[in-house]
Amino acid sequence: MYAAAEAQPNVALIKYWGKRNDALNLPAAGSLSITLDALHTQTTVHFDATLADDDVVVNGKRDPDQARRVGAVLDLLRARAGIATRARVRSTNDFPTSAGLASSASGFAALAAAANGALGLGLDARELSILARRGSGSAARSIFGGYVEMAAGTRDDGEDAFASPLLDASTWPLTVVIAITSHAPKAIGSRAGMRASQRTSRYYGDWIASVPNDLAIARAAIAARDFEQLAAVSEASCLAMHAMMLAAHPAIIYWNGTTLDCIQRIRALQADGVNVFFTVDAGPQVKAVCLPDAAAHVADALREVAGVEDVLLSGLGDGARVLEGRA
Ligand code: DP6
Repeated sequence: MYAAAEAQPNVALIKYWGKRNDALNLPAAGSLSITLDALHTQTTVHFDATLADDDVVVNGKRDPDQARRVGAVLDLLRARAGIATRARVRSTNDFPTSAGLASSASGFAALAAAANGALGLGLDARELSILARRGSGSAARSIFGGYVEMAAGTRDDGEDAFASPLLDASTWPLTVVIAITSHAPKAIGSRAGMRASQRTSRYYGDWIASVPNDLAIARAAIAARDFEQLAAVSEASCLAMHAMMLAAHPAIIYWNGTTLDCIQRIRALQADGVNVFFTVDAGPQVKAVCLPDAAAHVADALREVAGVEDVLLSGLGDGARVLEGRA
């Protein structure tokens, strides 16, 4: 009753921000992302009849909040298997957590894959995507590699809210240059941030209504490998999400001064004809998405921006997979 799995974070190009059901963690709109290959979460799950409770250690630490969220996803898998056995879960990231690098995405994708393997349930990727979504909405997308679209679905039970692959990583390679502008934990988590946005931002309704059109443009841009089109719609989605959050009461501001400086630098590169665009999630880091031959130049430019603490580079990678134990 043991398995180890690995998954990578993803970067949303068309953002998910808002829920239609909190209990089942159903998104209010779809989203679209690229899965990375250079950052990893490895998770082992060991169901053990001698345990009185789940024992969850993430990056060497026990955190009650995290344990509750992991336990809730394990409960769904236990129900499928018809058992009540508790599990020992060990998870490690090789990148900074809680800094807007979506460690919950790779974390819950790896957890779903490992628990499925440990229990020998033989669930397919779509079912794993639904289970990972219960842990974190963006995790549903990290089950798959390359270009991935998440469906909002319309069913009350959430069985049609899952991700699907659009295009392989190798078919259209991109490089993501991540400028770390702060290692501090983010001020407000995505769950609370989404709830506050929905309750208090006058632009929330318009934001959600605008997503399907952005998704259609992004899907067409990916099918045509049209970088310019993908750049324009991705930046528009990112800025619309942050604009909507700026209009919340109190305003939700994930950026710092360096975040904006990096965006300005990327706009200057674009003006020079460099194939790059920016996106920013629920944190101050800037992700510069570029064609692979522009990556070194983009990385050098971002390293020179005052306040940038670190620059990471990643290509696009695969979805979650079992490393040890049954797949
Ligand atoms: C800004 O997936 O972390 O990164 O479902 O509440 O766990 P929960 O939210 P989460 O939100 C991700 C928000 C985002 C945009 C995105 O990844 O689409």
